Amino acid sequence: MNYEATRRSVDPFESGLSRGSGTYLVWEDLTVVLPNLGNGQARKLLRGLTGYAEPGRIMAIMGPSGSGKSTLLESLAGRLSGNVIMTGNVLINGKKRRLDSGIVSYVTQEDILLGTLTVKETITYSAHLRLPNTMSKEQINGLVEGTIIEMGLQDCANRMIGNWHLRCISGGEKKRLSIALEILTHPQVLFLDEPTSTLDSSSAFFVIQALRNIARDGRTVIFSVHQPNSDVFALFDDLFLLSGGEAVYFGEAEMAVMFFSDAGFPCPSRRNPSDHFLRCINSDFDVITATLVKSQRNHGIPTSADPLINLATTEIKAMLVEKYKCSEYAMRARRQGGKRRKILIPQGPWHIGWKVFLAALKYFAQSKLEVLARGQQREGIDGKEDKERD
Ligand SMILES: Nc1ncnc2c1ncn2[C@@H]1O[C@H](COP(=O)(O)OP(=O)(O)O)[C@@H](O)[C@H]1O
Ligand SMILES: [Mg+2]
Repeated sequence: MNYEATRRSVDPFESGLSRGSGTYLVWEDLTVVLPNLGNGQARKLLRGLTGYAEPGRIMAIMGPSGSGKSTLLESLAGRLSGNVIMTGNVLINGKKRRLDSGIVSYVTQEDILLGTLTVKETITYSAHLRLPNTMSKEQINGLVEGTIIEMGLQDCANRMIGNWHLRCISGGEKKRLSIALEILTHPQVLFLDEPTSTLDSSSAFFVIQALRNIARDGRTVIFSVHQPNSDVFALFDDLFLLSGGEAVYFGEAEMAVMFFSDAGFPCPSRRNPSDHFLRCINSDFDVITATLVKSQRNHGIPTSADPLINLATTEIKAMLVEKYKCSEYAMRARRQGGKRRKILIPQGPWHIGWKVFLAALKYFAQSKLEVLARGQQREGIDGKEDKERD
């Protein structure tokens, strides 16, 4: 079946779903704190992050384990757990987000699927449950077919998902199925927590390529990723690099290599950029080195001719964070966020406020004129009646 034709003929937006012209997401000074609950100090999980995400592009949030990737995603998607406190702004098209708006979808790290259903059955059941009942059965079926094709699930559409004792579809297919379930309702912003974890390189490449296609359809896609290979990294449009809840870099993914190089930590020519970034900022390497030095088996510790790489990662990270704070990239993040706000705020509540004010003014002016006209008419009639009486 021709997918474009299918999609055009069963456009769900004509049947009740809303379509926007793209969603800009801006976050400013985002801080998440785990408060002091009697013992110990309050802990900052995210430290004043600023950034923005645009429709048509995919953004990878990258960083070592525990750096705050999931926390950032949850903050942006409004899914933070109740035991933490968030400050700062998250704006969707210049407005504070409304969680019930239905424009945001979130794909969790774990795939929650029923193993005894086939791929197509799963998508069909979900479509019937979640799509508006103004859509006909044919339209829903057309959309299901379109989604299967969009996520490259044709080959396994009629295979069972499987479970721990019945292996059927692969991990990559499961992940693409989880994404398919979320894109059924055409969310404007799609969040995914580690969509490539546990996948081999080709499956990871397929998943990220599918996300790129979704984004090119006018949607905003943000996902966390741990350590992608160079082919996968080359697919990213934007990169938010985190370490210990702090921004190390935010900007176009392809410019990150130049940022590291300018900061004095150039990526060796034969190294995968994401390996290099994490080698520079993952403080776990300090712990490993210290443990190895203390242990008996310390003769195999790798050293580098590059003196900077021999610095402790905590020092490298601190230098990079400082460099980023006063870099053109950080300034652009603040500028762009502000720009998005200015452009988009006229469509927000102020704009509606002015509209209401002008409409009220027009109404009062009109009713005043009517009263005056009625008064003049009345005067005319009274004058005529007076003359006739005379
Ligand atoms: N709700 C929470 N309560 C307590 N600690 C949390 C909570 N959310 C995150 N953390 C802590 O914040 C740190 C960052 O977590 P997370 O965002 O999951 O990291 P990542 O996704 O980069 O591995 C971790 O040390 C984690 O234990
Ligand atoms: Mg995580």
